Amino acid sequence: MRLLWFCIVVLFSSLLGTWGLTPSDQLLKERVEENTNSSLLWGTYRPNLYFGTRPRTPDSLMTGLMWFDASHFQGFQRMRHACEQGDGLAGYGYQKHDGRAFAKQHLNDEPSNVEITTEFIKVPGGKEGGDWGVRIHGKPIHSHLPAMTSVLFYFGLEGEGSMDITSRMSSKGLASPVKLEGDTPDLGDFEVEVIDGLLNDHPRQGLDQDLTKTQWVGLQVPEGNVWRAKEVLHEHMMQSARKKVQPGQEDDLFSHPHMYFTLENRLVEENDEIANLYAFQKVFNGEFQFDVIYRSTASNDAKLTSETLGEWLSVKEKDFDARFDATFGLKEKGFSQEQVQFGQSLLSNLVGGLGYFHGASVVDRSHPPMQDEESFAGEPIRAQLTSPQSLFTATPSRSFFPRGFYWDEGFHQMLLGNWDNDLSLNVIKSWVNAIDENGWVAREQILGDEARSKVPAEFQTQFPHYANPPTLYLAIKQYVDRLTSKHQTGKKQMAGLPINGQQVAMDLTLDDPHMTSMYLDHLALGQDWLNSVYPHLRRNWQWFRQTQRGHQDSFGRSPANNEAYRWRGRTPDHCLTSGLDDYPRGEPPNVGELHADLMSWMAFATQLLKDIATAIDVDGSLQQDIDEYTHIKKDMLANLDALHWSDVHQAYCDQTLNDEGYGVHVCHKGYLSLLPMALGLLPAESPKLGAILDMIENDEELWSPYGLRSLSKSDPFYNTGEVYWRGPIWININYLTLQGLYNNYLRTPGPYQEQAQTIYTQLRENLINNVYSGYKNTGYVFEQYNDNTGKGQRIHPFTGWTTLILLIMAEKY
Ligand SMILES: *[C@@H]1O[C@H](CO)[C@@H](O)[C@H](O)[C@H]1NC(C)=O
Repeated sequence: MRLLWFCIVVLFSSLLGTWGLTPSDQLLKERVEENTNSSLLWGTYRPNLYFGTRPRTPDSLMTGLMWFDASHFQGFQRMRHACEQGDGLAGYGYQKHDGRAFAKQHLNDEPSNVEITTEFIKVPGGKEGGDWGVRIHGKPIHSHLPAMTSVLFYFGLEGEGSMDITSRMSSKGLASPVKLEGDTPDLGDFEVEVIDGLLNDHPRQGLDQDLTKTQWVGLQVPEGNVWRAKEVLHEHMMQSARKKVQPGQEDDLFSHPHMYFTLENRLVEENDEIANLYAFQKVFNGEFQFDVIYRSTASNDAKLTSETLGEWLSVKEKDFDARFDATFGLKEKGFSQEQVQFGQSLLSNLVGGLGYFHGASVVDRSHPPMQDEESFAGEPIRAQLTSPQSLFTATPSRSFFPRGFYWDEGFHQMLLGNWDNDLSLNVIKSWVNAIDENGWVAREQILGDEARSKVPAEFQTQFPHYANPPTLYLAIKQYVDRLTSKHQTGKKQMAGLPINGQQVAMDLTLDDPHMTSMYLDHLALGQDWLNSVYPHLRRNWQWFRQTQRGHQDSFGRSPANNEAYRWRGRTPDHCLTSGLDDYPRGEPPNVGELHADLMSWMAFATQLLKDIATAIDVDGSLQQDIDEYTHIKKDMLANLDALHWSDVHQAYCDQTLNDEGYGVHVCHKGYLSLLPMALGLLPAESPKLGAILDMIENDEELWSPYGLRSLSKSDPFYNTGEVYWRGPIWININYLTLQGLYNNYLRTPGPYQEQAQTIYTQLRENLINNVYSGYKNTGYVFEQYNDNTGKGQRIHPFTGWTTLILLIMAEKY
């Protein structure tokens, strides 16, 4: 009988295409996906580079920009390629970036005395990603200092395909425009031009080379090594300089380094291999400009040229400004033009940090996936490379953390989701697909050698019993809120496309401005998306419930039910898996611990799964799940109070074991104690809410003039040890706090409403003022802020969750 039912359902769904979609919805879905595929083929950048592009596929064309100060011998040693904090740039980042077709970036390279602007345009067309162009402009910072810049742009090919220079080759250099042609399986045929600006001034003398022309080289680098282009080209130029130095004339190398550190103007191909890395070098006196234009042979429409590039750039910049104003409304809120630009840079750097990552990661899978850590604690690590995976993700920092982090990503997607709903759903979906068959997802996604080169070996291995705060649920909740507030329909109603839906789908063009919100505008598509992620999220939730469960029977506790949680992966003084690293916990780590923050995340996640199941349950088949969530969440809230609330401390606290082996509270007021409020788990009339608000407002606890500190000033661990999550201000939890106040307590009548309003207003102002003034002074936003001075500290630029300042300015929660 069951089987019969199953067959009928399968037959029925195959008739309908995807379950729940009408044929015209289905057509629209395919068109949207086709468009997204094409527009994103070249849509993301290599966030770890100052400028570089790569398509979404792993084996394909990679490009990148390098430069060095050619007026000094030392300049060559400081050649720029990947964003490095140690480069000491006086600020860099995107001023504008729409994530799909337009980006403008500023690189303030004080040590090399050059200010570089990169402006990028993509013109969609055809199925192979269309055309793109970049304009690179440089200007000396100090006009009284020598200003000579050597700039390189390269094209490297991984996997199948080929490239050839089609300009007339010469050992003196190539005349502008330099032309290159090639093909790859995913990009099809393409051509590239590198075009000099009209006003460029080049040094004239060269050693057997004409430096007014473009110097070049074609090299053969081993598979998987194109990302090392800087090492390869640096070494090549070093060798070239050695060959050119005449005995006894070594001084000339120091006085004229620009003539020595050049590409050799030849193809270096050996053993029947063909060159897969082409680099072009230009040496400039003073200010300069050149364009790099990539054309896909498949897009036959108007071809991108230097002239049209300039026109597109000014149109796109105006579009960006208008869309930014319409989305975030900062002017209406009274922000100045300068602050609006600051807001634009926050958004643009988050967007510019998006990237496709590919490759194997390192995982220790030597234990059954659901086995408890206690049974193998202390065993040696058995790390293995996994099969290659792909991830489309934002990154916390282009210089220091250019890879995906589960803990950070939900915060990133709250901002991106407000700007480009559908792009953000793509990223979330990519993460959801990374959830394995047991429900686990690695908290740090270090995919491939390039990503791994930025991570010390001891931090590379991921463990399938380690969790991380499930922040993706925060971003998905915002999406569900947007979708429901837009459609306000009852749960049994499936609003399909209007009658002319078929026409809507057919009319959809690649640069349709609605391409950013198709999954918001069309409820059926939205429900279809939720349907597709729901089973993965449920598996992830079940994995949490099984693997991070707290033991509670035997420790003399009086729980209301069985719900209790504990982060695995504790070490003395640390709980890295909680995301709060060195935040004080019970010591020594033990199996009897219970963690209040994890309990809060779990209750929040349970509510979200209930909301999703409710939104997609058109035929009542998810009622059982919904009932399960209702009852488990109730239990979680009961135990949050029964196990974690301390009357003595008037705070939510972890539990640890005392000397007799009994469960006792271990209370360190700080971000951990905020979560039940920040995640909206407390009723507006709860006295516990009042206690948390008092803790927030107290100068001796969390309140500072720059934002809420991570650990209470009165805590014995305040500002001790590494001082990471023991005092400094982090923007993610400050945002969550404002979000919790705004969505749940500010506008809901209750005894604490006024207090919530006062805190919200003052905290919002403090955060905006401090991060903004830090940016004005240094050119950067930071990983965290000092609670005594307000100064930004540690990693910069940190344009991951610190960019939430923009949502705080716009009051989007
Ligand atoms: C879009 O790209 C994905 C991933 O490469 C692929 O699986 C899917 O079939 C593509 N969809 C369309 C409509 O081309």
